[in-house]
Amino acid sequence: MPLRGKRIAFIGGGTMAEAMIRGLLDKHLVPPSHIAVSGPRRERRAELAKHFAVQTLASNADAARGAHVVVLSVKPQVLPGVMKELREKLDDDQLILSIVAGATLRALRHGLDHAAIVRSMPNTPAQIGLSITMWTATREVTSDQRDLANEILGALGEVLHAEEELDVDRATALSGTGPSYVFLLMEALVDAGVHLGFSRRVAEELVLRTVEGSAAFARKSGRHLAELRNQVTSPGGTSAAALYELEKGALRTVLSRAVYAAFTRTRELGAAAEADAPPKGRPG
Ligand SMILES: NC(=O)c1ccc[n+]([C@@H]2O[C@H](COP(=O)([O-])OP(=O)(O)OC[C@H]3O[C@@H](n4cnc5c(N)ncnc54)[C@H](OP(=O)(O)O)[C@@H]3O)[C@@H](O)[C@H]2O)c1
Repeated sequence: MPLRGKRIAFIGGGTMAEAMIRGLLDKHLVPPSHIAVSGPRRERRAELAKHFAVQTLASNADAARGAHVVVLSVKPQVLPGVMKELREKLDDDQLILSIVAGATLRALRHGLDHAAIVRSMPNTPAQIGLSITMWTATREVTSDQRDLANEILGALGEVLHAEEELDVDRATALSGTGPSYVFLLMEALVDAGVHLGFSRRVAEELVLRTVEGSAAFARKSGRHLAELRNQVTSPGGTSAAALYELEKGALRTVLSRAVYAAFTRTRELGAAAEADAPPKGRPG
């Protein structure tokens, strides 16, 4: 029970923080009294306090004070201001756990002038406890703190540790951004069903069940995806006709280019975040 007796502060109480808090409380990993959340809007703070009975504060520095883990759950554009508020207010033994897209360990280390940092990338199914989160840590993060990070991120779903920070950039492009690719594909399939003559409701049901079932089957069978696809592709059949059109339309190339564009953008955002960080501080 790595989280027993530990206090967690969330800097930013939006969608992802709420998903984490819900997961932590549902799994009884920490009591509400050990969770503090800060944010600028009084109504949002009142909502979180009412719903989860957690402590809410207007000041980020006050929320972080005394917490064993400080979760950075704000949007990237407000991160520089938040780091300024927290800089020099953190104790060396506090763990910073960032879920901020594109914010590199180096940018966080310099911006906060703090050494023990975990950088992670969850994805949006976190809202129903089905995230896949990749994370990495600075060398100063102790083994106990790694366990804490793993447990907190596990409240969102599955967790994968990366030795190399580059893998978190890669995961940002593949799984962090991934739901938007899947939603677009699903939306296109629903539209195709409507074009065939189905009502939108029926087309959505057919597509959602097909995607859910295919993912569950692929995982359960443990077989190569190409093998599963070949299994349903009969000579001269419907799948062969459809796959011919998909390959002709270069679907694989388009997807690969899209993921690479997301990766390039992640690296650009990381470089911009590093350029924004104050010049003084320990090297990352
Ligand atoms: N959503 C995802 O699927 C997803 C996936 C992976 C990573 N992430 C990362 O997770 C982070 C949070 O995303 P989100 O979707 O939870 O965003 P969100 O719902 O917009 O939450 C951000 C929260 O931060 C609050 N905030 C704004 N300025 C602040 C400040 N100066 N100090 C403290 N709190 C402040 C906002 O308050 P107001 O509501 O009052 O503005 C809001 O409650 C982002 O960096 C994103 O890159 C998100």
